[in-house]
Amino acid sequence: MASTIACFTTDNVSPEDQSVIETPQGETKSTVDNSLSKAESHELPIDRTLVSDFKQMKLEKEAQKNWDLFYKRNTTRFFKDRHWTTREFDELKACRQFESQRLVLLEAGCGVGNCIFPLLEEDRNIFIYACDFSPRAVDFVKQHTLYCPERCKAFQCDLTQDDLQDNVPQASVDVVTLIFVLSAIHPDKMAQSLQNIFRVLKPGGSVLFRDYGVNDHAMQRFKAANRLGHNFYVRQDGTRSYFFSKELLAELFEGRGFRSLANDYVFRETVNKKEGLCVPRVFLQSKFTKPHQSQTSP
Ligand SMILES: C[S@@+](CC[C@H](N)C(=O)[O-])C[C@H]1O[C@@H](n2cnc3c(N)ncnc32)[C@H](O)[C@@H]1O
Repeated sequence: MASTIACFTTDNVSPEDQSVIETPQGETKSTVDNSLSKAESHELPIDRTLVSDFKQMKLEKEAQKNWDLFYKRNTTRFFKDRHWTTREFDELKACRQFESQRLVLLEAGCGVGNCIFPLLEEDRNIFIYACDFSPRAVDFVKQHTLYCPERCKAFQCDLTQDDLQDNVPQASVDVVTLIFVLSAIHPDKMAQSLQNIFRVLKPGGSVLFRDYGVNDHAMQRFKAANRLGHNFYVRQDGTRSYFFSKELLAELFEGRGFRSLANDYVFRETVNKKEGLCVPRVFLQSKFTKPHQSQTSP
């Protein structure tokens, strides 16, 4: 039995949508009630946590170390390449024929490059900045056979405190991808990370977002002892995960000057074919744009 559920334990980062099928039509709509009953929400008052302040501070201080150790243990084997991004986001479709149409992209929190290498393979007319705060992850990106400095620049950066402009010119990026990254950042530091991103994005450029949605299966599997705060949990390896409601996400982005273009839950099922297991997943998929100056309110 233990092996049956092995890939869904909270020891690991949840394998997101590595092997997914669409749920029946009706369920994929964002109007589905995405709320927990009291019993399902572990009977804890909404913001109560069993984790001491000392432990919480230690987790924050060691966030980078814990992710770096994650990549030491798992190397490049944990996440599968994300070939779905061009299907989900029109902005990433490879339809730029001319050099002048070259897309400049920043993958913020790139891990070992599972999002960027499918894009570099498909699209000759793209330049990708890729950053992560784990030095090991950045090294894995640089060692990839598809990595070449003419088309890609990987660098270490803690989005919560290092200025992206040290590596990326101000207002120079067409698209930022933020894929299962904001959830790993402490809620108190999410806004400053978005502000950092805002500065390097061109006016009219967009942020393409996908991350864990509130009440996702991974959230429901966490024990009360792993709760750090509202919708915020710690895994056994010390990495943390926030589960977003679309209201909170819109507030976060709009509070930093972005405009919402799309913001909806995506309902999927993660399938473990070998074990015949199927678990329901909730992700939040969204698009935000940096308005042109003329579009900002006075
Ligand atoms: C679940 S992985 C996703 C990686 C990649 N975006 C992908 O789609 O495969 C989350 C990544 O966020 C990175 N990360 C977490 N907090 C960060 C921060 N404050 N600054 C930069 N990267 C961070 C972690 O090191 C990890 O590589």
